[in-house]
Amino acid sequence: MFHDIPKAVQDRMLYLEEIDTRDRQDGTTRIKRLRQIPPLTGQFIALLAASAPQGMMLELGTSAGYSALWLSLACKARGGKLVTFELLPEKVEIARETFKKAKVESLVELIHGDARGHINDYEDIAFCFLDAEKEMYLEFFDLVVPNLASGGLFVADNTISARDDLGEFLEKAHSDERVDTVDVPIGKGVLVCRKL
Ligand SMILES: C[S@@+](CC[C@H](N)C(=O)[O-])C[C@H]1O[C@@H](n2cnc3c(N)ncnc32)[C@H](O)[C@@H]1O
Repeated sequence: MFHDIPKAVQDRMLYLEEIDTRDRQDGTTRIKRLRQIPPLTGQFIALLAASAPQGMMLELGTSAGYSALWLSLACKARGGKLVTFELLPEKVEIARETFKKAKVESLVELIHGDARGHINDYEDIAFCFLDAEKEMYLEFFDLVVPNLASGGLFVADNTISARDDLGEFLEKAHSDERVDTVDVPIGKGVLVCRKL
């Protein structure tokens, strides 16, 4: 998976990494920033997604499509498609450009809208990556977990960087007996829940 990343994907990843780094240094406002996962988290979620059972792969919070590019590697490795959701039209525009330039349009479907209104369209979710606004995490957990396939993975970013805002969500994810949950101190903190 990581040994043969297509050049078009590598080039677009590098391009987005440069924008993301610049955004964080030059005072670009939060709403305009890409707010991407770090590359190590990208590798980690791609490995998890490639190892998930058969079924749908979802991403909640596309931004410019950087994490979706990592997940597209898993789509290629395991077969299947990623469906990714983005609320903001300006992010949708740049994500569309990403998927076109990286030539992954057959692997990634981008839906413009609030992901919360779409989760119930999917049963047997094999893998779901959550990287949206932190105040929505608990709501997403409650929506996604009933629709996870047996052995399916629900993965959430920023569980270290936004720990103070995620107290209720983290408590629920760790105490809910439908899932086994572990906090992984990688990147900004990644929570991994596996449905029993
Ligand atoms: C942290 S960024 C995602 C970064 C992306 N996962 C990456 O690493 O390349 C969060 C994105 O989620 C989007 N978002 C927030 N709430 C959402 C919702 N309810 N449905 C869909 N997108 C949402 C925001 O507009 C923002 O672009």
